[in-house]
Amino acid sequence: MKYLIGNWKSNYTIEEAQHWIEAVKKTLPDTHPDLTTVICPGFHHLLLFKLNLPGQTLGAQTISAFPPGTYTGQIAATNLRKLVEYVIVGHSERRTWAKESNSDVANQVTQALDNHITPIIAVDNDNWFSQLSILSSEELTASLIMYEPPEAISRPDGGVGSGEAAPKVEVVKAITAIKQEFSAKGFIYGGSVKSHNLSEFLSDPNIDGVLPGSASLKADEWVKMVLLANQVLVTGH
Ligand code: PGA
Repeated sequence: MKYLIGNWKSNYTIEEAQHWIEAVKKTLPDTHPDLTTVICPGFHHLLLFKLNLPGQTLGAQTISAFPPGTYTGQIAATNLRKLVEYVIVGHSERRTWAKESNSDVANQVTQALDNHITPIIAVDNDNWFSQLSILSSEELTASLIMYEPPEAISRPDGGVGSGEAAPKVEVVKAITAIKQEFSAKGFIYGGSVKSHNLSEFLSDPNIDGVLPGSASLKADEWVKMVLLANQVLVTGH
């Protein structure tokens, strides 16, 4: 199984999301049976997707570390049951801006798995060992691990990030090192993945998927990436 996961971050109004859905709907090809495509829009767009693009697998970008209850402003995993199949946890942006700790991420993983939602656990180049060693092997084997060096993230609005994907040799090296210590359902690369470099990463046998952020916001670019991912599965490149 290969994964193509789009992370919308905090982009798009309802109207903009509607335009994206309408544009994609017209041109989206059937996906290869061994390809899972997931869109992770903001929480406020999830129902819109469910109603207007019902075949699309959905993910959330974070989840509450707490069970449902008196946690104003939190979205609990139970709230998202049957709405999303995946959730990104521990994204470097959340570790930085929302000050999420490794134990917060561990609690999010527990909440997600208790509600049949697959965690996509984001780790970075320097801290992956401590970020993952807090989790049990049962939790990790039920999760995807997403390797993403923060400096490889596209930041059109400024901040740390080059907009250049990490070199594939370095990604393979990091993923191989992580695999020597931890088992998971799959190992994914994120950081400036776009249609021009998607096949390079996705065709590598060490890499089970890619997670484009900014590129997933453009409807035509998303469709192009789905076509390229299909092609990788058929031809191997
Ligand atoms: P990017 O974002 O593809 O825009 O670099 C990826 C991510 O940070 O999730």
